[in-house]
Amino acid sequence: MHNETFVPTLATIEDIRQETPDIRSLRIVLDDEGFRQNFTFKHGQFCLISVFGAGEAVFCLASPPLWKDFVEITVKEVGKVTSAIHDLEVGDKVGFRGPYGNSFPFEENFGRNIVFVGGGIGIAPLRPLIWQTLAERHKFKDVYIIYGARSVSDLVYKEDLRKWASRDDIKLTTTVDPGGEDEAWQGEVGLVPQILEKVSPPTDSVLVTCGPLVMMKFVFLSARKLGFDPNDVITTLEMKMKCGVGTCGRCNIGNKYVCRDGPVFRLAEMEKLPNEF
Ligand SMILES: Cc1cc2nc3c(=O)[nH]c(=O)nc-3n(C[C@H](O)[C@H](O)[C@H](O)COP(=O)(O)OP(=O)(O)OC[C@H]3O[C@@H](n4cnc5c(N)ncnc54)[C@H](O)[C@@H]3O)c2cc1C
Ligand code: FES
Repeated sequence: MHNETFVPTLATIEDIRQETPDIRSLRIVLDDEGFRQNFTFKHGQFCLISVFGAGEAVFCLASPPLWKDFVEITVKEVGKVTSAIHDLEVGDKVGFRGPYGNSFPFEENFGRNIVFVGGGIGIAPLRPLIWQTLAERHKFKDVYIIYGARSVSDLVYKEDLRKWASRDDIKLTTTVDPGGEDEAWQGEVGLVPQILEKVSPPTDSVLVTCGPLVMMKFVFLSARKLGFDPNDVITTLEMKMKCGVGTCGRCNIGNKYVCRDGPVFRLAEMEKLPNEF
């Protein structure tokens, strides 16, 4: 068993997609065939990727479990390990451990409207849940996706966005910050929380959100203002982590370990935690 231990398993980079100037997605194949065939995870879980000579860092699993035989991660270059990942090429080896953490609720939302609200690379943890929701589309009422980035070139998953835009069973709204639009831009211009208020989805929906902390704080305020129940507003948190399995104490907020008790939390739960995130 590789998950629940600190021992990474070897994996090979099968494909690399440059999403934006500083964000790339990697398709990773676990080398051990037995482990690969039995490997599964839930939407919202994360993994740790190690680059030899550079170290280990945490990334959400950004492809849905229904895409078999590989996983995707989407990595923003911010420091030592993420820069080393940006230097990797197809065929290179990394260490992989996981999956870790809890997951987004899924079955309990059958029959409801779902609203996904993402900002920048923050759509990465929502992506598996979006694709799973679309695979079982008939089990949900309306599906809204509101996604924004600072500028057109900062939007990730442009191919996914094209696919979602072409479907008439998704209400997709894309937005960029004022000044981030180009001549060809046909989406909204405005900050994600403002666009959420403009779209004003039904407040008996489940709202799942992830993005920069400042965006999420305003999304929570907008959701409250629109009348959403804080039990129906769900997010995933990014605290600094080391072990990933609840032993090092690096990621705690109050008495919760984000790696073990999260990273997925409901707004109702977060409102009871110290404001340390
Ligand atoms: C549950 C979880 C899921 C994540 N998913 C993704 C993902 O899908 N894609 C992605 O690009 N990143 C993700 N991150 C953040 C990622 O783990 C950090 O960016 C990475 O560890 C930075 O490592 P580094 O060695 O490149 O940076 P360092 O050299 O260690 O630091 C560079 C800068 O990044 C900051 N930093 C380091 N770790 C974190 C962190 N955990 N959160 C925020 N800032 C940090 C440091 O304070 C510093 O300013 C996730 C983090 C968590 C906890
Ligand atoms: S990362 Fe070690 S306790 Fe959470």
